[in-house]
Amino acid sequence: MTMNPVIDVHLFAEHAARALRADVRAGLGSPPKSLPPKWLYDARGSELFEEITALPEYYPTRAEREILRARVDSIAAITGARTLVELGSGSSEKTRLLLDALRRHGTLETFVPFDVSESALREAASALTGDYPDIAVHGVVGDFTEHLALLPAAPARMVVFLGGTIGNLYPDERAKFLRSVRETLRPGEWLLLGTDLVKDPGTLRRAYDDEQGVTAEFNRNVLRVLNRELGADFDVASFAHVARWNGADEWIEMRLRAGRASEVWIPAIDLRVELAEGEDILTEISAKFRRERVSAELADAGFDLLHWWTDEADRFALSVSRAAS
Ligand code: SAH
Ligand code: TRP
Repeated sequence: MTMNPVIDVHLFAEHAARALRADVRAGLGSPPKSLPPKWLYDARGSELFEEITALPEYYPTRAEREILRARVDSIAAITGARTLVELGSGSSEKTRLLLDALRRHGTLETFVPFDVSESALREAASALTGDYPDIAVHGVVGDFTEHLALLPAAPARMVVFLGGTIGNLYPDERAKFLRSVRETLRPGEWLLLGTDLVKDPGTLRRAYDDEQGVTAEFNRNVLRVLNRELGADFDVASFAHVARWNGADEWIEMRLRAGRASEVWIPAIDLRVELAEGEDILTEISAKFRRERVSAELADAGFDLLHWWTDEADRFALSVSRAAS
């Protein structure tokens, strides 16, 4: 018998429609223009992100997978997790290594993927339900910066947050996010966190501006979301993708640069947006970390960092932390 995964969508669709309007008004209504990154991940955006993970220049996925391969059995033994909660789970492809190890270890009962992208979540949840018939898959569609309280109650949890996605939050958002993860957990439960590391700017820039232009297409896709969802009339192709290393803040900035002066009309929020030639819309940051910063931020949020593992080439780190009492 094949079971269907349980997917909680709550009132997310209505909430998302309101949130998108508010975000676009706040981000494009006044300079400097910006858009929050979660709107990059509609069905097409999630597919493009999966393509990014296979690009030769995009090392984070391969580096993190290398660490997971080497460490999943230790992680299973250290945590003994019965419930695996994955935030920003996307395809959950690398997570299979963890599911396999926890299953070998004999503790895993439930997997809870949590993502803002309903299409990516549904696809991942059905594939996993087929491949892991002995594990209950309970997906949740939501925003991990706001809806962690929606997570189902479950015993002996490990929260995993992979892909360096924590770097897509600004420092103040990151602090708030880590505190809310800590508040969701009971003392003694676990956080497995993937963080991309500071390295030479050339390698970083190439990872966010690939030869084939997949990342550029991914970035521009957010304008297609605005055209479709809000009736906007962005001339998507006229925007250039820009990835710039900000050495002071140690993050990559992804921008969309207007190729010409234009006026965009966004009927759903009754907003007229003027763009000068060469004007940027900031769409995402991807912060890169050093060990001291990660362990300090985890400590501030009420976690004890117990293990810090990197890949052979020291490009990426995976850390295991326990919720302090
Ligand atoms: N964990 C996967 C995917 C990383 S891409 C990996 O390591 O490859 C980032 C993922 O986070 C996407 O699936 C995106 O839909 C999701 N995401 C981005 N912002 C989010 C938010 N605010 N709340 C929930 N999910 C979010
Ligand atoms: N979490 C990914 C990262 O920071 C997201 C990402 C990869 C991304 N490439 C991108 C976001 C390009 C916007 C544009 O690596």
